[in-house]
Amino acid sequence: MDADVLIIGSGASALQLARHLRPTMNVILLTKSTLQHSNSFLAQGGVAAALGGDDSPSSHYNDTVKAGRLTNASRPLHIMTREAPSVIHDLASIGCAFDKDSLGEFQLGREGAHGQSRIVHGGGDQTGRRLVECLAGVLPPNVTVLENQFVFELLINDQNECFGARSKDAYGKIHTFLSPHTVLAAGGCGQVYACTSNAASAEGDGIALAFEAGAELIDMEYIQFHPTLLYINGQGAGLISEAVRGEGAVLVDETGRRIMKGVHPMEDLAPRHVTAQTIFHYRQKGRPVFLDIRHVPRFHERFPSITALCLKHKVDLKQGLIPVAPGCHFIMGGVKTDDKGRTNVPGLYAVGENACTRVHGASRLASNSLLEGLVFGRRSARFLNSLSSSLPSQQRKKCPPPSVRLHLPERKVIQKRTMEAAGIVRNHKDLHGHKKWLDSFPMSHGFDKGMLTKEQVTVLFLLQTSRLITTAALERKESRGSHFRSDYPEELAEWKDRTILLQSHTKET
Ligand code: SIN
Repeated sequence: MDADVLIIGSGASALQLARHLRPTMNVILLTKSTLQHSNSFLAQGGVAAALGGDDSPSSHYNDTVKAGRLTNASRPLHIMTREAPSVIHDLASIGCAFDKDSLGEFQLGREGAHGQSRIVHGGGDQTGRRLVECLAGVLPPNVTVLENQFVFELLINDQNECFGARSKDAYGKIHTFLSPHTVLAAGGCGQVYACTSNAASAEGDGIALAFEAGAELIDMEYIQFHPTLLYINGQGAGLISEAVRGEGAVLVDETGRRIMKGVHPMEDLAPRHVTAQTIFHYRQKGRPVFLDIRHVPRFHERFPSITALCLKHKVDLKQGLIPVAPGCHFIMGGVKTDDKGRTNVPGLYAVGENACTRVHGASRLASNSLLEGLVFGRRSARFLNSLSSSLPSQQRKKCPPPSVRLHLPERKVIQKRTMEAAGIVRNHKDLHGHKKWLDSFPMSHGFDKGMLTKEQVTVLFLLQTSRLITTAALERKESRGSHFRSDYPEELAEWKDRTILLQSHTKET
C-alpha cells in the first residue's frame, strides 16, 4: 500500500499529527495493538499549560528547565510552553472534555516541581483516555487506521533514505507500506524494565527501528522513574498520579514519618528524580513507603481510576495508606529531531516519546509529555503539509536470513537485568556487566526479520533499547536529573553541555 504519510504509533502525538495533515493527503496510521493501548491512553495527571491568572509560558519554561537540570534545548522548549495554551483551547474546541469549575474555567491541578497550578485534566484522572478518544473520534476520512500491524522494519534505500516500512498483521502476514514520509510515533520503552507504569505496548520499537535505520539517538541515559507506582507483592501494579500529591497527599514511612521533609524545599512536590531516589533508598533497606491520602478532599471523585485500581488490589482506602514504589515511566532521550520532527535520515521523522527534541532535559517536568506530543505532532503535520510527495528510489540491499540458531533470552530476564543495572541508581561495574551480557546477543539488524516471530523481534528491540540506555549511562560519568551514578554522585559543570549521541558507534558531541 502507498501513503503520502505513514505514521507508526497511535498515541497523542500520532493522532494529533494525523488530524492536522492536509485532507488531500492519503495517510496510513499503523498500530501494533489497538487505539486503546498506549502510554497516552493511560496518562492520568494531565497536560501542563500556563492558563492560570498568575501564570505565564516563561514560568512554565523556567520550571521545566529547573526540573531538567539545565540541559533542556531552549528553542523547542520556548515553542512548547508558548503553544501550550492554544493546544488546550484547540482540543476543547473539538470536544475534549477537560474538567472545568462552576464558572466554566479549566480546573488546574498541581504536580511536582511546578511553581503554579497548571495541569489541565479530564475525568479526574482519565485525561489520556479522554484525549485519545477525542482525537481518534475526529480523524478525517483521509486517515486510514490499521490496527494489529506490528512494524518490524523501516525501508531504507541505498541512498540511506527512508521510503516506508514492513509490518506483520495478527496472522503473521507481511505487509509493505511505501511512503516518502514515515513518522515514528511509537511511544516509550518502559517494558525494558521489570517495574513500569507503561502500557504493555511500550517496548522501544520506535527507538530500535530508528537506530537500525541509521538515525541518531541522544540522551538515552535519561530514564525517568515515577515515584509512586502502586506496590503489591513486590511488583508495580499501576500508576498513582503525582496529582494525588498535588491535592495534598504525602509520602510516609512505616511509622507515619514524612520522608520528603528536609530532602528538598518542595518536599512531596520535589522534582520526580529526587522523590523517586528517596523512595528507592527506603525500599533498598527493606522499608515500606506509603502515600498518605487522608487529607485529600473527595479522593474517590477526583481520582476514580486510581480508586478502582486500589480496590482491585484490595488496598483499604479507608486506612488512607497506599503502598508505593518507583517504576520506569518515561524516556527523555530518543531519536534526535528538530522542532519539525525531522531526523538525520531523509524521509524519516519522529514525534512524541520516541523522539528527542531535548525539551525535557535530564528529568521531565510532570504533565509535559502529552503536551510535547500535541505541540510537536501539530508542528510536524504543518511542516509535512508544505512538502511534495514523491517516493524516493526503492533500491535496497538484500538482507540475509537470520541464523537458524538465533538464541534469545526471555523478556523477563532482560527486564530484571536492566532494572538492576540501568535503573534508578547505576554504577560502572553493573552497567559494564550488563552491556557485556547484552552484547552476547545479536543486534536487531543486518538480517531479514520478516522470518522471525513477533515475540522474537520484540525481544531484539528490547535488547537493542537496553543496550542503548546502558551504553549512554556508562558514558555519562556524573549524576544529573534522572541519571544517578553512585560512583559519580555529583552533577559536574563540565558535563552540562555534553550530549551522548549514539548511531552505529558511540560519539560524544
Ligand atoms: C502522573 O499523573 O503522575 C503522570 C503524569 C506525567 O507523567 O506527566
